[in-house]
Amino acid sequence: MIEFRNEPFTNFADPVNKEAMQAALTKVKSEFGKEYPLVIGGEKIFTENKLESRNPGKLDELVGIQSKANRDLVDQAFQVALERFKSWQFVSPDVRAGYLFRAAAVMRRRKFEFAAWMVYEAGKNWGEADADVAEAIDFLEFYGREAIRLGGPQPLVPLEGEDNRLTYVPLGVGVIIPPWNFPLAIMAGMTTAAIVSGNTVLLKPASQTPIIAAKFVELMEEIGLPAGVINFVPGDPGEIGDFLTGHPKTRFVSFTGSRDVGLRINQIIAKTAEGQVWIKRLVAEMGGKDAVVVDESADLEEAATGIVQSAFGFQGQKCSAGSRAIIHKDVYDEVLQKVIEKTKQLTIGLPEENYPIGPVVDEKSYNKILEYIEIGKQEGRLVAGGGKAEGNGYYIQPTVIADVKEDARVMLEEIFGPVVAFCKAENFEHSIEIFNNTEYGLTGALYSNNREHLEYARKYMHCGNLYFNRKCTGALVGVHPFGGFNMSGTDSKAGGRDYLLLFTQGKVISERF
Ligand code: NAD
Ligand code: ALA
Repeated sequence: MIEFRNEPFTNFADPVNKEAMQAALTKVKSEFGKEYPLVIGGEKIFTENKLESRNPGKLDELVGIQSKANRDLVDQAFQVALERFKSWQFVSPDVRAGYLFRAAAVMRRRKFEFAAWMVYEAGKNWGEADADVAEAIDFLEFYGREAIRLGGPQPLVPLEGEDNRLTYVPLGVGVIIPPWNFPLAIMAGMTTAAIVSGNTVLLKPASQTPIIAAKFVELMEEIGLPAGVINFVPGDPGEIGDFLTGHPKTRFVSFTGSRDVGLRINQIIAKTAEGQVWIKRLVAEMGGKDAVVVDESADLEEAATGIVQSAFGFQGQKCSAGSRAIIHKDVYDEVLQKVIEKTKQLTIGLPEENYPIGPVVDEKSYNKILEYIEIGKQEGRLVAGGGKAEGNGYYIQPTVIADVKEDARVMLEEIFGPVVAFCKAENFEHSIEIFNNTEYGLTGALYSNNREHLEYARKYMHCGNLYFNRKCTGALVGVHPFGGFNMSGTDSKAGGRDYLLLFTQGKVISERF
């Protein structure tokens, strides 16, 4: 088998790629307004209760209409998934991996089309949408290979007179609950990691991005995945969320989303339901309050570029986004000035026209971010942006708030929007103390040319993904296994070699001869 390599990103400066993307955007737009079903055991079910998915950058555009599941339908999906698990668990890992490789091949052929759906439904610009598709392909290719590796012989210490084998067997029926911000990559990665390990699942997509999930479910049907392995149950989290996670037949929950919802799920699954014969397993990847630290030895131009990219890529709506900049006092003014200049160059507009800054995902996020900007204005000095931007959508100016104290709310709470707070550090150790002063621990970056500082940071910057002299977003599958500490979650390291173990249990069989 060919060794895993990351899917390359598309160069949109090449006119061929630009034309292909424009054609895909036109094609996808011609499909707007269609209705999408639930899929339970391969059966397509349209319900009365529906969800409208709109373009956050152009609110009069209806991207698609998604049927919603109620509790009865979720219960039906559990029965189907349990039944399918009886056979799927024994399908060989090579065969299961084959489905992922076929899905990757089709997705690669239709890369622009998948990207176009995200441009319209999530408000990603072309580069962000293309990176999301590339990451989804990477997960399919990587987890397929991982399933084959774990399905092979595992090293054990030999014992004379015995044949000992360690195998990794699947858990059962899992509930997959992804976020909207990587609506293809994270959703597809979480789902396929579970199924390639031999589990069957109920997939409940985020309410903001059900259509891209429906497109993925269509793709899995197209490549011949047996019915009932993935059961697609979009719905209101208020109605079916706790029901899904609290269900006695739920064996595991794979969740990526906010801290509060992750903690709620953690509580719910800790209760043992009547008839439940296992401890439910939780994989929870949650929020971040990530930061870029700059010391006095750093290349300040590079650092300023890294701060702007980390803070404003996809409008700051990444768990990895650098929403804090912690700068040594000697270089603070210079870095701040450079960041202000770079931020002011960012133009805002429609994702389909590929502006660097697009809309945030929905009204709730829009209002929350604007509230935080007001809080930031009280806690610091507004130096760029500061409010709404024009457009028929949820547009917010990229915003920089300077001179913020280390315990300010905008330094501690996840905003999940295009806002970065600047904080001055007295010395290097102080900057690391500020960095660690949050309940999260997902990503961080340090810009420095001082070897002692880099080695100190290696030990003391407490986060799951730490980057030196580069931005703190953009982890690559297989290269940067991804997951965080503390309230950032269970540190599952998606895209890493330990990830599939979370969806299996080890069985050792010893035969005397
Ligand atoms: P969210 O917590 O609001 O929703 C996440 C998912 O949980 C959605 O599918 C939602 O419908 C569902 N949900 C909500 N209430 C539920 C309940 N009671 N029971 C079951 N499911 C329920 O998060 P979001 O707004 O979709 O995503 C943004 C958050 O995700 C941010 O905090 C971000 O940092 C985090 N995130 C983390 C990672 C990571 O790898 N650590 C990656 C991406 C996003
Ligand atoms: N994996 C995404 C990143 O690193 C969240 O930006």
